[in-house]
Amino acid sequence: MNVLVTGGLGYIGSHTVVELIENGYNPIIIDNLGNSNITILDRLEKLTSKNIKFYKGDVRDKELLRKIFESEKIDSIIHFAGLKAVGESVEIPLNYYDNNIESTIALLEVMNEFKVFKFVFSSSATVYGDPEKVPIDENAKLGATNPYGRTKLFIEYILKDLYESNKDYNIAILRYFNPVGAHKSGLIGEMPNGIPNNLVPYVSQVANGKREYIRVFGSDYNTIDGTGVRDYIHVVDLAKGHILALKKLEEKCGLVIYNLGTGKGYSVLQVIKAFSKAVGKDLPYKFVERRKGDIAECYSDPTKAFRELGFKAEKTIDDMAKDQWNFEKNIK
Ligand code: NAD
Ligand code: UD1
Repeated sequence: MNVLVTGGLGYIGSHTVVELIENGYNPIIIDNLGNSNITILDRLEKLTSKNIKFYKGDVRDKELLRKIFESEKIDSIIHFAGLKAVGESVEIPLNYYDNNIESTIALLEVMNEFKVFKFVFSSSATVYGDPEKVPIDENAKLGATNPYGRTKLFIEYILKDLYESNKDYNIAILRYFNPVGAHKSGLIGEMPNGIPNNLVPYVSQVANGKREYIRVFGSDYNTIDGTGVRDYIHVVDLAKGHILALKKLEEKCGLVIYNLGTGKGYSVLQVIKAFSKAVGKDLPYKFVERRKGDIAECYSDPTKAFRELGFKAEKTIDDMAKDQWNFEKNIK
């Protein structure tokens, strides 16, 4: 089965490519290298001992998409390609609307031309905005609080409208919670440019001596220890969720929506503790002001994905810290 993986050289896409190959699928990657590097392709080929078909280009380029659909017999699509930095989306919103929404529309149009109707979309827990209660299930109220989040929300509505117009589609919308960690080989992982925004890449750079101390954003939230709580999920568990979603599409499921999380929340201090254990030394941190726009607690109710997909995240917070550190310490 030929699966077109947009953004397949990125963080989650690259881990999913490995799982696809391990499960007998044939991934075909398109990526514009806007937030990735061609060396990831070599690493993926080394990891899987397979030649992987790669097209360098933009998903908004419909001519290129048509060329790919003509040359490869595409059965289904996993659409990871997109811009994902919340802060940046506030600074340059048009780039986010253009890249994320245009790429999805171009892809859906070309899929329709070639009568390919199976589509997996990378959504995010960000579509729940500031949740009314935790754990968050798929029926919770939606509402994004920044342009990045709104691109995800709009695309979800576009997919729902499209499905209403044509029931031939089988679409899985996957709402990821906080993906962290890396492949156990240490060959692929997340490589943020510049100063990381997210907690785990920041903590691993402190562990690596690239940054002096961790800034803990807020100590007075109404949580277990006053620091923010999130549902961290190992990226390899998340990647496996995509294989289960593809299998679900084979059952002609229509449009389905799943949370992909562990169902457990960890505080910032608990993450630092797990990381300190993996590194073998206490990592320095300081409490600073709350980060604007942050919420106290966000974690999933993962029961729907378990019931309907058989999805269950297996890896613990210690596995996430260990694999992240194994990757980080090998980055030159
Ligand atoms: P990433 O930036 O590592 O990967 C995205 C890849 O897509 C990159 O390789 C980039 O070069 C490519 N790309 C971007 N726009 C493109 C375009 N127009 N044409 C071709 N290639 C393009 O991000 P990631 O963390 O792997 O995230 C993958 C998807 O999952 C994104 O849609 C993101 O919004 C979503 N998501 C990520 C997280 C997270 O925390 N990482 C959480 C929830 C949802
Ligand atoms: C971020 C994104 C969100 C995205 C999610 C998953 C923002 C505002 N939101 O959410 O859209 O879906 O990632 O990738 O960027 N923290 C610190 N110090 C740091 C960094 C973070 O204390 O240096 C704290 C935060 O306050 C939060 C927790 O760590 O409590 C996790 O933060 P982060 O990794 O940025 O993820 P989210 O805020 O959940």
